[in-house]
Amino acid sequence: MEAKQVTERGNWGSKIAFILAAAGSAVGLGNIWRFPMAVGQNGGAVFVLVYILAVMLIGFTVMLSELTIGRHSQKNPVGAIERIKPRSPWKLIGYLGILTGICILSYYSVVAGWTLGYLIKTATGSFKGQLSGHLTDKIFTDFSANPWLVIIFLLIIIGVTTYIISRGVKSGIERWTKILMPMLFILIIFLAVRALTLPGAEKGISFYLKPDFSKLSGKVILFALGQAFFSLSLGMGTMITYGSYISKSDNLVSSAGWVCFSDTLIALLAGIIIFPTLFAIPGLTPAEGPGLVFKVFPLVFAKIPGGTIFGILFFSLLLVAAITSTISLLEVPVAYFVDERGWSRTKAAGLMGLLAFLLGVPSALSSGAVKFLTKIDFSGWMDFIFGNISLAFGALLICLFVGYIWGVKRAIGEISSGNTRFKLRPLWVFSVKFLSPIAIIIILFFIRTIAK
Ligand code: TRP
Repeated sequence: MEAKQVTERGNWGSKIAFILAAAGSAVGLGNIWRFPMAVGQNGGAVFVLVYILAVMLIGFTVMLSELTIGRHSQKNPVGAIERIKPRSPWKLIGYLGILTGICILSYYSVVAGWTLGYLIKTATGSFKGQLSGHLTDKIFTDFSANPWLVIIFLLIIIGVTTYIISRGVKSGIERWTKILMPMLFILIIFLAVRALTLPGAEKGISFYLKPDFSKLSGKVILFALGQAFFSLSLGMGTMITYGSYISKSDNLVSSAGWVCFSDTLIALLAGIIIFPTLFAIPGLTPAEGPGLVFKVFPLVFAKIPGGTIFGILFFSLLLVAAITSTISLLEVPVAYFVDERGWSRTKAAGLMGLLAFLLGVPSALSSGAVKFLTKIDFSGWMDFIFGNISLAFGALLICLFVGYIWGVKRAIGEISSGNTRFKLRPLWVFSVKFLSPIAIIIILFFIRTIAK
């Protein structure tokens, strides 16, 4: 049995509850919306390959580092660094994380809002009948360009997130993830089978799984790395915060492993649904951008008897997956203001939620509603700066902090509680001190050439 630790901050009910909650943070629009979009824009299978390497070699390392910092210090990211290395500039990791969290939350909630919109559209029969890519393309373009709709949906998403966070972590997160995440997984497997058996699926499968190495470039590597951090919720202290609620008797290594594995599996399956369908039904191209998932999924449902029900189920579960992620994004700044500044949870959640909403408005309007914002691709830039660069930079600082400031010996001391053997130890040490930081530095160094 778990030796439950009693602290005022509360702990996850059990190891499995933690894994589900952390997987709940990790699994979300990052897997089902952002991953296929990035694959489509970055040459297909070669991106997938680099992505898997990035998760195994760097993502896992950073995940374990964040969880370890969190459990050791029992604090939010700023407080955690302060406790380990008092009065040092490394607290920047925490502040950067707070800023990044709010910024990602702002445009992420826009897409979560689209998901809600699509749930309603599916339920009210917008996707009935014979669909083509041209048709779903038009439906998406019309929808995302409607300023009032996208803003109202954004407001609903941020409102729900703020409400859940203001009521505290455990009751909010644990309850949802336990049943709904496994359901999403089963549904996705079912849809993947349907997509794979569509006539003409082969082209999509080869785009997705047969690497064309001539497409490998610095840009592909940067986006794959950024996608690994984004999808695993790394680089801004989310996993420090979640780690702070893990009990000392739990095994951090296997927990990190399970979260990385399940998150990656779901992303890969999402691609198996998207690409075969996209190539089997005419009208769309892989580099469709942020609308990709919304244009392709209705096509799969149209190919299943009773598709409307599957559509409703899918968008509902995706919405839940998105909300378990938005709450983890909001939790970082809120934990900081509550722990370090003595704010009430309600005040912290309310103010941060408001901020994210205001920042989200221009993103919401940049998919066709306002010409200028659409032209400069406001939400695309937000995602590039905060969802790629800032996370990679944060992950770099976390590796350097654990590798050289806190020191791997002390970190291993924390990891050993709950895992006395830690077989991956030499690999993790090598990755945290050398491989991960050097890889991230090289990639960040080339950004100017990559961003054109
Ligand atoms: N990982 C989530 C997803 O894939 C999004 C997310 C939640 C996130 N918390 C995060 C991304 C923290 C980066 C950092 O949908």
